[in-house]
Amino acid sequence: MKSTISYTSEVLRIEGGARLSGRVRVSGSKNATLPIIFATILTTQHCKIKDAPDLLDVENALELLRILGAEYQKEGNEILIDPSGVIKTSTPEDIVRKMRASILSMGPLLGRFRKARVSLPGGCSIGARPIDQHLKFFEKAGARVSVRGGFVNLEVNTKKPVEFTFDLITVTGTENALLYLASVEGQSTLKNVALEPEVMDLVHVLKKMGAEITLEGRELKIRGAEDLSGFNHRVIPDRIEAGTFLVAGSLSGYEIVIENVVSAHLKSVIEMLTQHGTHVSEEGMDSLRVTHNGSRKPLHIETSEYPGFPTDMQAQFCTMLSVTPGTSTVVENIFENRFQHISELNRMGANITIKGRKAFIRGVDQLWGATVNSTDLRASASLVLAGLIARGTTVVRDIYHLDRGYDKLEEKLKKLGAVIERLPEGQEI
Ligand code: EPZ
Repeated sequence: MKSTISYTSEVLRIEGGARLSGRVRVSGSKNATLPIIFATILTTQHCKIKDAPDLLDVENALELLRILGAEYQKEGNEILIDPSGVIKTSTPEDIVRKMRASILSMGPLLGRFRKARVSLPGGCSIGARPIDQHLKFFEKAGARVSVRGGFVNLEVNTKKPVEFTFDLITVTGTENALLYLASVEGQSTLKNVALEPEVMDLVHVLKKMGAEITLEGRELKIRGAEDLSGFNHRVIPDRIEAGTFLVAGSLSGYEIVIENVVSAHLKSVIEMLTQHGTHVSEEGMDSLRVTHNGSRKPLHIETSEYPGFPTDMQAQFCTMLSVTPGTSTVVENIFENRFQHISELNRMGANITIKGRKAFIRGVDQLWGATVNSTDLRASASLVLAGLIARGTTVVRDIYHLDRGYDKLEEKLKKLGAVIERLPEGQEI
């Protein structure tokens, strides 16, 4: 007998107060895996991606590749892709709606087939997120770019090298340009590029495929090739997942050890945690030990492009600062609407006010469990962290946001001692 209740979504129920201890391994980076999946379009040879995280966004990217004609097998965290069958050059709207990173199919499709038709991504809850810089690059590179009926159409007759300067630093803008220029012979130059580790991991893969790429400051020189080869690549660890566990350790830890970390990717986050009074030490080649005893100091945080403090860690720090004595301030310089977690934290007893791009956080002694709504990936992580330290029970709803970017977060937290479980919506009471 089929159940009459159809659970459309799931929730996480968390009993606050547990102290965390033990070891946790961070998964591969979502934001490195996605552009690397699209890089496979540039070759007809087999490509292997190792340590890819098990995430909705990765599944969607692979689904898009299959729609375009590629084949793939996924065994655990290893993905084998055969892109030889790619023939389609149009990316459907529903996939782009589900995952805006699908816009990264523009560069490689134009590079391999000299044309691409990609649905315009809508905005999302954290901001309008226009792609004007992406299109400006393709035009400067000699493509004809037209926007019709919610789709971007790109076509180029002769691929030629280009010199282009971004008006602002954009991660996927830089990646889209790289994914195109890797297949363009001759010396191209990109200026004012993003330096995030995920962009550099893509550069690493494109060099394995046969492109020559050098970086100086914020200037990339690329000498592409028509015939690019397949590759075998282990993606870098997810620095934002690692940062999220650092905050969990600071808030709830006895002491936890986070494995599979490149600490150099977390310099600005570790600096702020140390200022806060949290103790972070390196253990072995790729682990960090985190604990917090004693007082917490308020902070002033300003998000900025890498190597500055990452916008993707802003929400998690708001949770930590909400129970820090004194007044902290957080300025969100990257996205225009990335404070939606604040109203949910205030429902749990936090005392945070927002003026424009600045949040004023007056520390309280205690958060209180409540039912809270997730609005975006990192906001949902901040609410889970709040649930870990709140008095009583917290229910975090709409956790599909979380599943887009965290690979089995509740299982990892449970292993560290958290009292947390995933339930179908409606069963949490
Ligand atoms: C990437 O988004 C990440 N996503 C984001 O992670 C991350 O928050 C962001 O970089 C900043 O670090 C992926 O890598 C898949 P941007 P992206 O282009 O590339 C404006 C997650 O879920 N802008 O660097 O879209 C834009 O509006 C996400 O993991 C333009 O105005 O970010 C924003 O204000 C959340 N015109 C700023 O630049 C453009 O053409 C930075 O955006 C492009 C961007």
